Amino acid sequence: MHPLKKRLIYLLGFMGVGKSTVGALLGERLHWPFIDLDATIEAGHGTTIRQIFENAGEPFFRQIERAALMEASKTEPAVIALGGGTFVQKPNFDYIQEAGGTTIWLDCPLEELRRRCEGKNDRPLFRDPASFAQLFEQRLPFYRQADHRIPTEGIGPEEVVENILRLQVF
Ligand code: S3P
Repeated sequence: MHPLKKRLIYLLGFMGVGKSTVGALLGERLHWPFIDLDATIEAGHGTTIRQIFENAGEPFFRQIERAALMEASKTEPAVIALGGGTFVQKPNFDYIQEAGGTTIWLDCPLEELRRRCEGKNDRPLFRDPASFAQLFEQRLPFYRQADHRIPTEGIGPEEVVENILRLQVF
């Protein structure tokens, strides 16, 4: 890893891309702690992300997501799996740039993401295929600004981790 870079890896990408699964495996391989932002929010609030959206609304969720991001970033080294929307909130985007870690975008075509999310009930922002596609398009310009892009289409999580390790930035 670059000597001036902090030993913090932020995994980002759209919902369903595998940030949590890949993050846990990557943490194991590096022997670094793994922090799943959504899981810490759920544990901290004793409820599900869906319930937080339903009871308190998305703006409240974004506030606690930001607090969770700042808290998680105090751990070093760490692999941090962001939520699908974390990196596209401008204050978070700026914070992550300043935090000095490495950002890795797990990329996957929309169709495969849709297949993976369909039929599950745990994602409040997966409402219908049209709004899912719109959100995806809106977010791509942010995701593209990550330090690295790792394609994940048709690839299992272990291979994705191997491809991340091949970046040799750690
Ligand atoms: C969100 C994605 C979810 C979760 C929340 C909001 C989003 O995380 O943070 O439902 O804005 O795309 P995953 O990307 O892990 O599904």
